[in-house]
Amino acid sequence: MQMQILGIETSCDETAASVVTRDSDGKPELLSNVVLSQIDEHSEFGGVVPEIAARAHLSAMDHIVSQALAEADTDLSKIDGIGVTAGPGLVGGLMVGLMTAKALSASRDIPYLGINHLEGHALTARLTDNVEYPYLLLLVSGGHSQIVRVDGLGDYTRLATTIDDAVGEAFDKTAKLLGLGFPGGPNVEKAAQHGDAERFKFPMPLRGQDTLNMSFSGLKTAIRTQAQKLVPLKEQDVADLCASMQKTVAEILSNRCERAMAQSEGINTLVVAGGVAANSEIRQRLETLCEQHSYRLIAPPLKLCTDNAAMIAWAALERFEQGEKSNMDLAPRSRWPLDGDTQTVIGSGRKGAKV
Ligand code: KG4
Ligand code: ZN
Repeated sequence: MQMQILGIETSCDETAASVVTRDSDGKPELLSNVVLSQIDEHSEFGGVVPEIAARAHLSAMDHIVSQALAEADTDLSKIDGIGVTAGPGLVGGLMVGLMTAKALSASRDIPYLGINHLEGHALTARLTDNVEYPYLLLLVSGGHSQIVRVDGLGDYTRLATTIDDAVGEAFDKTAKLLGLGFPGGPNVEKAAQHGDAERFKFPMPLRGQDTLNMSFSGLKTAIRTQAQKLVPLKEQDVADLCASMQKTVAEILSNRCERAMAQSEGINTLVVAGGVAANSEIRQRLETLCEQHSYRLIAPPLKLCTDNAAMIAWAALERFEQGEKSNMDLAPRSRWPLDGDTQTVIGSGRKGAKV
Protein backbone atom coordinates (compact mmCIF):
# COMPACT_ATOMS: atom_id res chain seq x y z
CA MET A 1 0.00 0.00 0.00
CA GLN A 2 1.26 3.49 -0.85
CA MET A 3 1.62 5.93 2.04
CA GLN A 4 -0.03 9.34 1.86
CA ILE A 5 1.97 11.93 3.77
CA LEU A 6 0.84 15.38 4.86
CA GLY A 7 3.65 17.96 5.08
CA ILE A 8 3.62 21.20 7.09
CA GLU A 9 6.17 24.03 6.77
CA THR A 10 6.30 27.22 8.88
CA SER A 11 10.02 27.90 9.43
CA CYS A 12 10.15 31.35 7.84
CA ASP A 13 7.58 33.48 6.02
CA GLU A 14 5.59 30.89 4.09
CA THR A 15 2.71 28.93 5.61
CA ALA A 16 2.62 25.73 3.60
CA ALA A 17 0.96 22.32 3.50
CA SER A 18 1.16 19.53 0.95
CA VAL A 19 0.31 15.88 0.34
CA VAL A 20 2.71 13.47 -1.39
CA THR A 21 2.67 9.75 -2.09
CA ARG A 22 4.17 7.20 -4.47
CA ASP A 23 2.21 5.96 -7.47
CA SER A 24 1.61 2.25 -8.08
CA ASP A 25 5.07 1.98 -9.72
CA GLY A 26 6.71 3.51 -6.67
CA LYS A 27 7.36 6.83 -8.43
CA PRO A 28 7.06 9.98 -6.28
CA GLU A 29 3.78 11.82 -6.75
CA LEU A 30 2.85 15.32 -5.65
CA LEU A 31 -0.87 15.45 -4.85
CA SER A 32 -1.08 19.04 -3.61
CA ASN A 33 1.23 21.93 -2.75
CA VAL A 34 -0.31 24.97 -1.05
CA VAL A 35 1.95 27.90 -0.15
CA LEU A 36 0.76 31.14 1.41
CA SER A 37 3.46 33.81 1.23
CA GLN A 38 3.59 36.55 3.85
CA ILE A 39 5.61 38.92 1.65
CA ASP A 40 3.02 41.71 1.95
CA GLU A 41 3.05 41.55 5.77
CA HIS A 42 6.84 41.95 5.90
CA SER A 43 7.65 44.14 2.88
CA GLU A 44 7.37 47.50 4.70
CA PHE A 45 10.05 46.29 7.15
CA GLY A 46 12.46 45.19 4.41
CA GLY A 47 12.77 41.68 5.86
CA VAL A 48 10.98 38.98 7.85
CA VAL A 49 9.74 40.06 11.31
CA PRO A 50 9.59 36.90 13.51
CA GLU A 51 6.59 37.91 15.65
CA ILE A 52 4.52 38.92 12.64
CA ALA A 53 5.46 35.65 10.92
CA ALA A 54 4.38 33.49 13.88
CA ARG A 55 0.99 35.22 14.17
CA ALA A 56 0.38 34.98 10.44
CA HIS A 57 1.19 31.23 10.50
CA LEU A 58 -1.25 30.73 13.36
CA SER A 59 -4.14 32.43 11.61
CA ALA A 60 -3.55 30.65 8.28
CA MET A 61 -2.54 27.16 9.41
CA ASP A 62 -5.92 25.36 9.66
CA HIS A 63 -7.14 26.72 6.37
CA ILE A 64 -3.92 25.86 4.51
CA VAL A 65 -3.93 22.26 5.81
CA SER A 66 -7.62 21.84 4.82
CA GLN A 67 -6.87 23.26 1.38
CA ALA A 68 -3.92 20.88 0.86
CA LEU A 69 -6.07 17.88 1.83
CA ALA A 70 -8.94 19.03 -0.42
CA GLU A 71 -6.68 19.67 -3.43
CA ALA A 72 -5.20 16.20 -2.98
CA ASP A 73 -8.74 14.83 -2.93
CA THR A 74 -8.09 13.18 0.43
CA ASP A 75 -8.83 13.66 4.13
CA LEU A 76 -7.16 12.97 7.47
CA SER A 77 -8.59 9.45 7.66
CA LYS A 78 -6.45 8.50 4.62
CA ILE A 79 -3.25 10.20 5.81
CA ASP A 80 -0.62 7.69 6.99
CA GLY A 81 1.89 10.14 8.42
CA ILE A 82 2.61 13.82 9.01
CA GLY A 83 5.95 15.48 8.33
CA VAL A 84 6.56 18.87 9.91
CA THR A 85 9.54 21.24 9.84
CA ALA A 86 11.12 21.18 13.32
CA GLY A 87 14.09 23.43 12.43
CA PRO A 88 16.20 25.30 11.59
CA GLY A 89 14.22 28.52 11.43
CA LEU A 90 12.32 31.09 13.45
CA VAL A 91 11.16 29.36 16.63
CA GLY A 92 7.77 31.11 16.88
CA GLY A 93 6.78 29.89 13.43
CA LEU A 94 8.22 26.41 13.96
CA MET A 95 6.13 26.05 17.13
CA VAL A 96 2.92 26.76 15.23
CA GLY A 97 3.66 23.99 12.70
CA LEU A 98 4.90 21.54 15.30
CA MET A 99 1.89 22.04 17.57
CA THR A 100 -0.47 21.58 14.63
CA ALA A 101 1.26 18.33 13.67
CA LYS A 102 1.26 17.05 17.27
CA ALA A 103 -2.42 17.92 17.73
CA LEU A 104 -3.41 16.14 14.51
CA SER A 105 -1.20 13.21 15.41
CA ALA A 106 -2.68 12.82 18.91
CA SER A 107 -6.30 13.38 17.97
CA ARG A 108 -6.31 11.22 14.81
CA ASP A 109 -3.73 8.65 15.86
CA ILE A 110 -1.42 9.41 12.92
CA PRO A 111 2.37 9.13 13.41
CA TYR A 112 4.33 12.33 12.84
CA LEU A 113 7.98 13.19 12.17
CA GLY A 114 9.94 16.38 12.85
CA ILE A 115 11.95 17.12 9.70
CA ASN A 116 15.04 19.26 9.14
CA HIS A 117 14.07 22.01 6.68
CA LEU A 118 17.45 21.70 4.96
CA GLU A 119 16.86 17.99 4.44
CA GLY A 120 13.63 18.96 2.69
CA HIS A 121 15.60 21.15 0.26
CA ALA A 122 18.26 18.45 -0.08
CA LEU A 123 15.77 15.74 -1.13
CA THR A 124 13.42 17.82 -3.33
CA ALA A 125 15.10 16.60 -6.53
CA ARG A 126 14.21 13.03 -5.54
CA LEU A 127 10.54 14.06 -5.46
CA THR A 128 10.63 16.06 -8.70
CA ASP A 129 13.16 14.14 -10.80
CA ASN A 130 13.53 10.82 -8.99
CA VAL A 131 17.28 11.56 -8.71
CA GLU A 132 19.44 8.73 -7.39
CA TYR A 133 21.98 9.20 -4.59
CA PRO A 134 24.73 10.45 -4.56
CA TYR A 135 24.63 14.06 -5.83
CA LEU A 136 25.86 17.55 -5.02
CA LEU A 137 23.39 20.17 -3.83
CA LEU A 138 23.84 23.93 -4.15
CA LEU A 139 21.31 25.50 -1.81
CA VAL A 140 21.02 29.24 -2.31
CA SER A 141 18.20 31.23 -0.71
CA GLY A 142 17.57 34.15 1.61
CA GLY A 143 18.51 31.98 4.57
CA HIS A 144 20.98 29.42 3.27
CA SER A 145 24.08 29.27 1.08
CA GLN A 146 25.56 25.81 1.16
CA ILE A 147 27.08 23.12 -0.99
CA VAL A 148 26.15 19.71 0.38
CA ARG A 149 27.17 16.24 -0.72
CA VAL A 150 24.11 13.97 -0.47
CA ASP A 151 25.10 10.30 -0.24
CA GLY A 152 21.84 8.89 1.07
CA LEU A 153 18.94 9.58 3.42
CA GLY A 154 20.48 11.24 6.48
CA ASP A 155 23.96 11.00 4.95
CA TYR A 156 24.96 14.58 4.21
CA THR A 157 28.34 16.28 4.16
CA ARG A 158 28.39 20.04 4.08
CA LEU A 159 31.27 21.03 1.81
CA ALA A 160 30.73 24.77 1.93
CA THR A 161 28.74 27.48 3.64
CA THR A 162 28.74 31.26 3.78
CA ILE A 163 30.71 32.78 6.61
CA ASP A 164 28.45 35.84 6.75
CA ASP A 165 25.42 36.78 4.62
CA ALA A 166 23.38 34.29 2.60
CA VAL A 167 23.34 34.86 -1.17
CA GLY A 168 19.67 35.88 -1.25
CA GLU A 169 20.39 38.27 1.60
CA ALA A 170 23.14 39.88 -0.52
CA PHE A 171 20.56 40.41 -3.31
CA ASP A 172 18.01 41.77 -0.83
CA LYS A 173 20.51 44.18 0.76
CA THR A 174 21.75 45.37 -2.62
CA ALA A 175 18.17 46.05 -3.68
CA LYS A 176 17.45 47.94 -0.46
CA LEU A 177 20.61 50.01 -0.88
CA LEU A 178 19.63 50.94 -4.44
CA GLY A 179 15.97 51.57 -3.55
CA LEU A 180 14.64 48.59 -5.51
CA GLY A 181 12.34 47.07 -2.85
CA PHE A 182 11.88 43.67 -1.17
CA PRO A 183 12.39 40.83 -1.99
CA GLY A 184 15.43 42.09 -3.82
CA GLY A 185 16.53 39.21 -6.05
CA PRO A 186 13.93 39.53 -8.80
CA ASN A 187 14.27 43.35 -8.83
CA VAL A 188 18.07 43.24 -9.05
CA GLU A 189 17.80 40.73 -11.89
CA LYS A 190 15.32 42.95 -13.73
CA ALA A 191 17.45 46.08 -13.36
CA ALA A 192 20.55 44.11 -14.41
CA GLN A 193 19.00 43.29 -17.79
CA HIS A 194 19.88 46.78 -19.07
CA GLY A 195 23.18 47.01 -17.22
CA ASP A 196 26.84 46.65 -18.11
CA ALA A 197 28.21 43.79 -16.00
CA GLU A 198 31.81 44.80 -16.81
CA ARG A 199 31.57 48.37 -15.50
CA PHE A 200 32.44 47.57 -11.88
CA LYS A 201 34.84 44.97 -10.50
CA PHE A 202 33.65 43.73 -7.13
CA PRO A 203 35.71 41.60 -4.73
CA MET A 204 35.39 37.81 -4.52
CA PRO A 205 36.40 37.12 -0.91
CA LEU A 206 38.03 33.78 0.02
CA ARG A 207 38.69 33.02 -3.65
CA GLY A 208 41.88 31.04 -4.07
CA GLN A 209 42.06 30.23 -0.37
CA ASP A 210 42.05 26.72 1.00
CA THR A 211 38.30 26.66 1.68
CA LEU A 212 35.10 26.18 -0.27
CA ASN A 213 33.29 28.64 1.97
CA MET A 214 31.74 31.81 0.61
CA SER A 215 31.46 35.38 1.87
CA PHE A 216 29.03 38.02 0.63
CA SER A 217 29.10 40.84 3.16
CA GLY A 218 32.15 42.49 1.53
CA LEU A 219 30.25 42.61 -1.74
CA LYS A 220 27.47 44.62 -0.13
CA THR A 221 30.01 47.09 1.30
CA ALA A 222 31.77 47.42 -2.06
CA ILE A 223 28.47 48.19 -3.77
CA ARG A 224 27.60 50.79 -1.15
CA THR A 225 31.02 52.47 -1.54
CA GLN A 226 30.67 52.52 -5.32
CA ALA A 227 27.08 53.81 -5.15
CA GLN A 228 28.10 56.63 -2.79
CA LYS A 229 30.73 57.78 -5.30
CA LEU A 230 28.07 58.00 -8.02
CA VAL A 231 25.39 59.90 -6.07
CA PRO A 232 22.97 61.07 -7.45
CA LEU A 233 22.48 57.66 -9.06
CA LYS A 234 21.13 57.58 -12.59
CA GLU A 235 18.99 54.67 -13.78
CA GLN A 236 21.93 53.40 -15.82
CA ASP A 237 24.21 53.46 -12.75
CA VAL A 238 21.73 51.29 -10.83
CA ALA A 239 21.48 48.89 -13.77
CA ASP A 240 25.28 48.64 -14.08
CA LEU A 241 25.69 48.08 -10.31
CA CYS A 242 23.06 45.31 -10.39
CA ALA A 243 24.56 43.63 -13.46
CA SER A 244 28.07 43.75 -11.99
CA MET A 245 26.82 42.42 -8.62
CA GLN A 246 24.90 39.58 -10.25
CA LYS A 247 27.87 38.59 -12.40
CA THR A 248 30.13 38.53 -9.34
CA VAL A 249 27.71 36.30 -7.39
CA ALA A 250 27.34 33.95 -10.37
CA GLU A 251 31.12 33.73 -10.63
CA ILE A 252 31.56 33.01 -6.91
CA LEU A 253 28.92 30.24 -6.98
CA SER A 254 30.25 28.69 -10.15
CA ASN A 255 33.80 28.76 -8.80
CA ARG A 256 32.79 27.09 -5.53
CA CYS A 257 30.73 24.43 -7.30
CA GLU A 258 33.62 23.69 -9.63
CA ARG A 259 35.92 23.14 -6.67
CA ALA A 260 33.32 20.98 -4.93
CA MET A 261 33.02 18.89 -8.09
CA ALA A 262 36.79 18.41 -8.19
CA GLN A 263 36.70 16.76 -4.78
CA SER A 264 33.56 14.69 -5.35
CA GLU A 265 34.62 11.63 -7.26
CA GLY A 266 31.82 9.34 -8.41
CA ILE A 267 29.25 12.14 -8.57
CA ASN A 268 27.89 13.58 -11.83
CA THR A 269 24.72 15.40 -10.77
CA LEU A 270 24.42 18.93 -9.41
CA VAL A 271 21.05 19.91 -7.92
CA VAL A 272 20.34 23.59 -7.38
CA ALA A 273 17.64 24.73 -4.93
CA GLY A 274 16.48 27.86 -3.10
CA GLY A 275 14.95 31.12 -4.30
CA VAL A 276 18.21 32.42 -5.82
CA ALA A 277 18.11 29.47 -8.24
CA ALA A 278 15.45 31.53 -10.06
CA ASN A 279 18.17 33.86 -11.31
CA SER A 280 18.77 33.20 -14.98
CA GLU A 281 22.36 34.48 -15.05
CA ILE A 282 23.24 32.12 -12.19
CA ARG A 283 21.44 29.19 -13.84
CA GLN A 284 23.24 29.93 -17.11
CA ARG A 285 26.64 29.90 -15.42
CA LEU A 286 25.85 26.62 -13.68
CA GLU A 287 24.61 25.06 -16.91
CA THR A 288 27.86 25.97 -18.66
CA LEU A 289 29.86 24.62 -15.72
CA CYS A 290 27.96 21.33 -15.77
CA GLU A 291 28.43 20.96 -19.53
CA GLN A 292 32.17 21.48 -19.12
CA HIS A 293 32.41 18.78 -16.45
CA SER A 294 29.90 16.29 -17.92
CA TYR A 295 27.54 16.87 -15.01
CA ARG A 296 23.77 16.83 -15.15
CA LEU A 297 22.19 20.00 -13.73
CA ILE A 298 18.85 19.51 -12.01
CA ALA A 299 16.87 22.60 -11.10
CA PRO A 300 13.47 21.66 -9.65
CA PRO A 301 10.56 23.91 -10.69
CA LEU A 302 10.69 27.20 -8.87
CA LYS A 303 7.68 26.59 -6.63
CA LEU A 304 9.50 23.55 -5.24
CA CYS A 305 12.88 25.34 -5.08
CA THR A 306 11.58 28.03 -2.75
CA ASP A 307 10.15 27.17 0.67
CA ASN A 308 7.24 24.72 0.48
CA ALA A 309 5.74 21.79 2.38
CA ALA A 310 6.02 19.21 -0.42
CA MET A 311 9.73 18.87 0.30
CA ILE A 312 8.97 18.31 3.99
CA ALA A 313 6.30 15.72 3.20
CA TRP A 314 8.71 13.97 0.84
CA ALA A 315 11.59 13.83 3.35
CA ALA A 316 9.11 12.46 5.91
CA LEU A 317 7.90 9.83 3.45
CA GLU A 318 11.45 8.58 2.92
CA ARG A 319 11.94 8.42 6.69
CA PHE A 320 8.55 6.81 7.44
CA GLU A 321 9.48 4.13 4.91
CA GLN A 322 12.41 3.36 7.20
CA GLY A 323 10.05 3.02 10.16
CA GLU A 324 10.92 6.26 11.94
CA LYS A 325 8.58 8.49 13.97
CA SER A 326 8.94 11.36 16.47
CA ASN A 327 7.87 11.54 20.09
CA MET A 328 5.54 14.14 21.56
CA ASP A 329 8.36 15.86 23.45
CA LEU A 330 10.16 16.99 20.29
CA ALA A 331 11.10 20.70 20.53
CA PRO A 332 11.73 23.15 17.67
CA ARG A 333 15.37 24.02 16.92
CA SER A 334 16.44 27.42 15.64
CA ARG A 335 19.79 25.90 14.61
CA TRP A 336 20.03 22.42 13.23
CA PRO A 337 22.94 21.69 10.90
CA LEU A 338 22.22 19.09 8.26
CA ASP A 339 25.55 17.48 8.80
CA GLY A 340 25.89 16.83 12.54
CA ASP A 341 29.68 16.76 12.31
CA THR A 342 30.10 20.19 10.77
CA GLN A 343 31.18 23.14 12.84
CA THR A 344 28.73 26.00 13.21
CA VAL A 345 30.07 28.95 11.27
CA ILE A 346 29.14 32.07 13.16
CA GLY A 347 27.12 34.47 11.08
CA SER A 348 26.34 32.04 8.27
CA GLY A 349 23.00 33.01 6.81
CA ARG A 350 20.22 35.36 7.74
CA LYS A 351 20.38 36.38 11.41
CA GLY A 352 22.33 33.18 11.93
CA ALA A 353 18.94 31.48 12.09
CA LYS A 354 19.23 29.02 9.24
CA VAL A 355 22.64 27.44 9.50
O1 KG4 B 1 14.04 30.03 -0.93
P1 KG4 B 1 13.42 31.35 -0.69
O2 KG4 B 1 12.07 31.63 -1.32
O3 KG4 B 1 13.21 31.62 0.83
C1 KG4 B 1 14.22 31.53 1.80
O4 KG4 B 1 14.92 32.53 1.95
O5 KG4 B 1 14.31 30.48 2.46
O6 KG4 B 1 14.46 32.45 -1.20
C2 KG4 B 1 14.19 33.81 -1.17
C3 KG4 B 1 15.43 34.55 -1.61
C4 KG4 B 1 15.33 36.05 -1.42
O7 KG4 B 1 16.50 36.52 -0.80
C5 KG4 B 1 15.20 36.57 -2.85
O8 KG4 B 1 15.74 37.87 -3.02
C6 KG4 B 1 16.00 35.53 -3.62
O9 KG4 B 1 15.68 34.29 -3.00
N1 KG4 B 1 15.61 35.51 -5.03
C7 KG4 B 1 16.44 35.82 -6.04
C8 KG4 B 1 15.65 35.76 -7.22
N2 KG4 B 1 14.38 35.40 -6.88
C9 KG4 B 1 14.38 35.25 -5.53
N3 KG4 B 1 17.73 36.16 -6.05
C10 KG4 B 1 18.29 36.43 -7.26
N4 KG4 B 1 17.61 36.42 -8.43
C11 KG4 B 1 16.30 36.09 -8.46
N5 KG4 B 1 15.64 36.09 -9.61
ZN1 ZN C 1 14.41 27.19 2.79
